[in-house]
Amino acid sequence: MQPILELKNVHSGYGSIKALKGVSLKVIPGEIVAIIGANGAGKSTTLMTICGIVSAEKGEIFYEGQRINKVSPEKLPTMGLCQVPEGRRIFPRLSVEENLILGAFYRNDKEGIAKDIQHAYDLFPILGERRRQEGGTLSGGEQQMLAIARALMTKPKLLLLDEPSLGLAPIIIQQIFDIIATINREEGTTILLVEQNANLALQAASRGYVVETGEITLEDKASALMENPKIREAYLGE
Ligand SMILES: Nc1ncnc2c1ncn2[C@@H]1O[C@H](COP(=O)(O)OP(=O)(O)OP(=O)(O)O)[C@@H](O)[C@H]1O
Ligand SMILES: [Mg+2]
Repeated sequence: MQPILELKNVHSGYGSIKALKGVSLKVIPGEIVAIIGANGAGKSTTLMTICGIVSAEKGEIFYEGQRINKVSPEKLPTMGLCQVPEGRRIFPRLSVEENLILGAFYRNDKEGIAKDIQHAYDLFPILGERRRQEGGTLSGGEQQMLAIARALMTKPKLLLLDEPSLGLAPIIIQQIFDIIATINREEGTTILLVEQNANLALQAASRGYVVETGEITLEDKASALMENPKIREAYLGE
């Protein structure tokens, strides 16, 4: 099957800092793929380079067969590629519902938008209860849910998730990962997931990539990575 996303030898960075030094990876439609790696390995930079927030200095990025190196970050969600960035970045002074409406910024099918807001509340009932509350006053877990729900309002084919578990309690993390699995299974949304929590990520994913100082050092089925002694020692706390 044609990959929905493909990176070929992508280099990027910040001024003189080379953060990615030739990253190549593929995501097939319908998959959940995990990128795991330590602090500063280049996980977030990989997602931001795909989104065009950081520009690729070298290499190629293809989405649905189309080269997207020069496509602007605002355009990609309208093509079905949407990122939930690390740290959530919801609009703190807007209500939950206003945040969701902004997620549908490029759509003008009012009925469809209303239906999708209701669908977001079905997926995340707590957001429905809090629909008039300012985003900034939500708990960390609720803000992560809102960030994911807002991204879903763009009707993504490929969702990029940057550390959805960061700073959250285990029970909330479980809820969020259950919903990620549901979105993938029931809506067929393809997911590229970045996590420092390798255990969680590899349980959710079918395949995984390991990134170390800007390079992919290993790729395999998630189950094989979980059994790999090196991965167990370096990333699974053994
Ligand atoms: N805005 C920036 N300016 C300069 N250097 C940056 C910037 N953002 C990231 N870097 C550097 O790029 C490298 C990769 O960072 P990146 O944020 O991609 O790592 P990460 O794998 O997401 O780490 P973490 O797990 O801590 O989120 C690091 O060396 C980091 O210091
Ligand atoms: Mg990061």
